[in-house]
Amino acid sequence: MLRKTLLYLSHQPQIFRFVRNNGLAKKFASRFVAGETIATACDAVAELKAKGITASLDLLGESVTNEAEARETARQYLALVDEMQRRGLEVNVSVKLTALGQDISAALCEENIRAILAKVKGYGGFVRLDMESSAYTQRTIDFFERRLFPDYPETVGVVLQSALRRTLADVDWSVQKQCRVRICKGAYLEPATVAFPDKRDVDANYVEAMQRLMQKGRYPGLATHDERIIDEAIRFAKANGIAPDRFEFQMLYGVRRDLQERIVREGWRMRVYVPFGTQWYPYLMRRLAERPANLAFITGNVMKE
Ligand code: FDA
Repeated sequence: MLRKTLLYLSHQPQIFRFVRNNGLAKKFASRFVAGETIATACDAVAELKAKGITASLDLLGESVTNEAEARETARQYLALVDEMQRRGLEVNVSVKLTALGQDISAALCEENIRAILAKVKGYGGFVRLDMESSAYTQRTIDFFERRLFPDYPETVGVVLQSALRRTLADVDWSVQKQCRVRICKGAYLEPATVAFPDKRDVDANYVEAMQRLMQKGRYPGLATHDERIIDEAIRFAKANGIAPDRFEFQMLYGVRRDLQERIVREGWRMRVYVPFGTQWYPYLMRRLAERPANLAFITGNVMKE
């Protein structure tokens, strides 16, 4: 119930306008979001690098509805990757196609993402297309497969969500194509027609997808904070002779930092997804929905104010 309410609130822009001007909300956001500028984002990446952790930077923003905004997002991504390269950081970014104009026109979205891919390819970097709600799954996969992957097989990858009933078929497609996949559970509220309502099924599907990707996929990203699943991945890698450079674990900025460091200490690869920018409200609400206990973090800060 609380999860549903928080996910509902994540779509209410008037609430964002209210919290954006609230210093307390900003303080809470700073735990999960690396500031509002390219400079603060790169600082966070440099700090992680010092701990042996790689990063993927995400300029927060989604569901852009006018062309100027979509072009501005692309322009900011280009400035971001230039700055990462200039600072000697690995160039790796995550993008949401709706922020680049997917809802406006496929041509605009393609023009924007291609400009980013061309520059990132020149830097030897990587662009991950985040996956949004199930309304976008097929569109995103088709766009990726037909328009981007043929020209940028080394530079671009997609995300699959174990919450969706279709995902094992998509995993097999990715294995056959040998394209790079990040597997996550899925952060969106979905109908039972397309997604498993029971979390145990989502978790079991994750493990099956993960094992197929580890065994036959191309350098999968295992995005989860679920310690039981992470331990299973490690057991599976050891049992099947899968070397630490064949896949990477991925977690979100500010979440389970203890576990991030443990994974690196044990010799596995760890990448942290680092969101930044002014549009942090929907992202933050999804993180709260995943773990309503994070509300206590806000309440705790309210008490201290
Ligand atoms: P689960 O929700 O079962 O949590 C397992 C444990 O992790 C919890 O018990 C808790 O200890 C800890 N935990 C999880 N979330 C937490 C939080 N917010 N705060 C504190 N502790 C927390 N989704 C999507 O739909 N499209 C996408 O493109 C992406 N991309 C993405 C990239 C990366 C790198 C990650 C890590 C995640 C995503 N996600 C995503 C989000 C993903 O789908 C999912 O919603 C979250 O990762 C939470 O699921 P877990 O796998 O962590 O398991």
